Amino acid sequence: MTDRRQRNLLLLGFGNVGRAFARLVTEKREELAARYGVCFGFAGIVDVGGTLVDPAGNLPVPKILGHVEGGQAPEDFPGFGRPGLGALEAIRSVPADFLVEATPTSLRDGEPARTHVLEGLRAGCHVLSANKGPFIWDYRGIMEAARERDRAVGLSAATAAALPTLDVAELCLAGSRILSVEGILNGTTNYILTRMHQTGCPYEEGLREAQRLGIAETDPSLDVEGWDTANKLLLLANRVFRAGLTPRDVAVEGITAVTPDRIRRAREAGRVIKLIGRIDPAADPARVTVGPEELPADHPLAAVSGSEKAVSFETDSMGRITVSGGHSSPLGAAAALLKDALRISLYYDRSFSRSS
Ligand code: HSE
Repeated sequence: MTDRRQRNLLLLGFGNVGRAFARLVTEKREELAARYGVCFGFAGIVDVGGTLVDPAGNLPVPKILGHVEGGQAPEDFPGFGRPGLGALEAIRSVPADFLVEATPTSLRDGEPARTHVLEGLRAGCHVLSANKGPFIWDYRGIMEAARERDRAVGLSAATAAALPTLDVAELCLAGSRILSVEGILNGTTNYILTRMHQTGCPYEEGLREAQRLGIAETDPSLDVEGWDTANKLLLLANRVFRAGLTPRDVAVEGITAVTPDRIRRAREAGRVIKLIGRIDPAADPARVTVGPEELPADHPLAAVSGSEKAVSFETDSMGRITVSGGHSSPLGAAAALLKDALRISLYYDRSFSRSS
């Protein structure tokens, strides 16, 4: 019998983030049930070659992870694998409470993830997304579809993951006017720039290490050319300031032209080069810019190092609020997905009943 506290998940994408999410949710199952009266199970896991399905939501995640990390394809897992069953068919045929979008971000048009998200909403799922693509291209369309069906969309994992950004702007600063936003929102480039400052290495060397750690995007040009930072800011601007922006509306420069020589000169002047993203909410619509900047050593973002990130809000009534930490990692992205799943289950979904 299905536990009435159980929420079933349909996970799209079984790469670094998808696997970290499956592992985290499974490891925390008992703890979440005890603390929150909610538990999560997997009804479907979709990867490039097919889908794993258990409509009851009890896919044996530890065994599946062992199978995949042993080098085998997910869809070949005995008993549950459906080779060739694609994402759209899975969304239409596997009943779930949450669709979890963890496929790679497409900067070109946000597809196929945008279609996954819209189909998931049509099928009655809440959406959790680590993928920014659908929301940078069609934020308003997707939110309209969610409103029509009274479903929630959790974007914490797409907006700097373990570093709270949206939550701070929407909840902690409620009632204040946000005058500006600036941040270091990409762990990969911050890791690379930190390495360049510390060792004098070229950026390619730092990038290789970031890829080894699993924090770089599947397409790392999104990181080093500044687009991952820009995309996070776009989502913040669209949600918090209702800006209606797409990638066509932002000015972006990455770190590929930052040479070891430029880093050395900055260091000798007591300054540090960081990839800074900004939102100017006073412009109409809000303006988003990204580029490398030389910060003085006493700037609130200067000490943010390695794969850590930070966001700083200047407000009219709460002064400057800076949040830092939340380094980029698959576990951090998984934790942000879980945070939204819990919050939606506990505070949004009126159909959900806690047992205690
Ligand atoms: N590649 C990103 C980063 C993580 O380095 O911060 C996902 O946005």
